[in-house]
Amino acid sequence: MRRIPIKKLQAGNILAVPVKLPRTGVILLKEGLALAPRHIEYLLQYGLAEESCYVFDTSEHSLLPQEDIIILQNFRTDILQSIESIELKRTLAFTYTALSDLVKEMKAGSQISLQPIQDASEQIARQVLENNGVMLQLAALKIINEYTFCHSVNVAIYAVSFGKFLGLKRHTLRELALSGLLHDIGKLSISPQIIDKPGELTREEFEQVKRHTYEGYRRLVKKTGVSNDVLQAVLLHHERCDGSGYLLGLQGKKIHPWARMLAIIDIYDALTSRRCYRDAVLPHETVDYLMGLSTQGALDFDMLNLYLKNMPVYPEGCQVSLSTGEKGTVVETPPGIPLRPVVEVSSLARGKQISKEAPADPLGVKRKRVDLCINPTIFITSIDSR
Ligand SMILES: [Fe+2]
Repeated sequence: MRRIPIKKLQAGNILAVPVKLPRTGVILLKEGLALAPRHIEYLLQYGLAEESCYVFDTSEHSLLPQEDIIILQNFRTDILQSIESIELKRTLAFTYTALSDLVKEMKAGSQISLQPIQDASEQIARQVLENNGVMLQLAALKIINEYTFCHSVNVAIYAVSFGKFLGLKRHTLRELALSGLLHDIGKLSISPQIIDKPGELTREEFEQVKRHTYEGYRRLVKKTGVSNDVLQAVLLHHERCDGSGYLLGLQGKKIHPWARMLAIIDIYDALTSRRCYRDAVLPHETVDYLMGLSTQGALDFDMLNLYLKNMPVYPEGCQVSLSTGEKGTVVETPPGIPLRPVVEVSSLARGKQISKEAPADPLGVKRKRVDLCINPTIFITSIDSR
């Protein structure tokens, strides 16, 4: 972050703190905004040319085209700043645009063009193959501000990562990404008041929601270039192995494997996301819930176990709070034990001190490592950020 005179601002600079009117404190522009020329003009019109503001240091970010920078305003700036790869940022911007355009076409009832979303699927598959850890972190930290887009992209990332773990070919990974991006596309045929309703749905409303799987299938089945695997994943992702799901009430292996996979991923990402009507459920609590569902027979037990082997539930770099009151960063996840990572504590609970034996980093700062595998009474109580 650096301080810069407002008269020297350039399009593409991202505000690190809000710009306020000096005397009244009224906020003119919000933190995280990627400035367009009109924003700078707006500040100058207020006579703030000689004032200063704070922008993120974005030497890499500024290499992006202006359109991508503006699209990336829909993403969490704090996380974007930590992404070094320009190619990854462009993938995120491209995917967001492809999804937005598809949503607009669906809402307008016009012909939908799937080529951009297929290209986005290819890019996501490539990024997961090259940067699996980073992509899983982005999914865990919910990088896109809007839930619907964030959820679709996350499901795509988790599906590709799982497919990679299973050794699937690149072409198949691209198809998996496509099914993740499109799995809920049928929701656009349902009234937003019902989809976003915070309270319990009436019976009639729920009947409408249930149709989103078929509506998505119906729109895609007419298009060329959508494989049967993708269609089955879209149509059957709410089926449950014990027959309790919808729309067809299929059971067990009669449900396409991709749909059984998406069922797990869909619930995992939905529960770990914060919604306007509830807080995010913690990953280990979500895993408990999924295990419960698979034990009851609703989810594919073997697939869930395989999935959890691949999932770093708390990815490295994730900042967490512990039940001890301490805050820290996840630095390691033991293979096969995703729920009990090693946390490097950066702030201690009141009254505690880091021991003299604690290792020091190159700057001489002492840090304490808490291995949750050997400290069974300590728990992660929240994910704070990255
Ligand atoms: Fe769905």
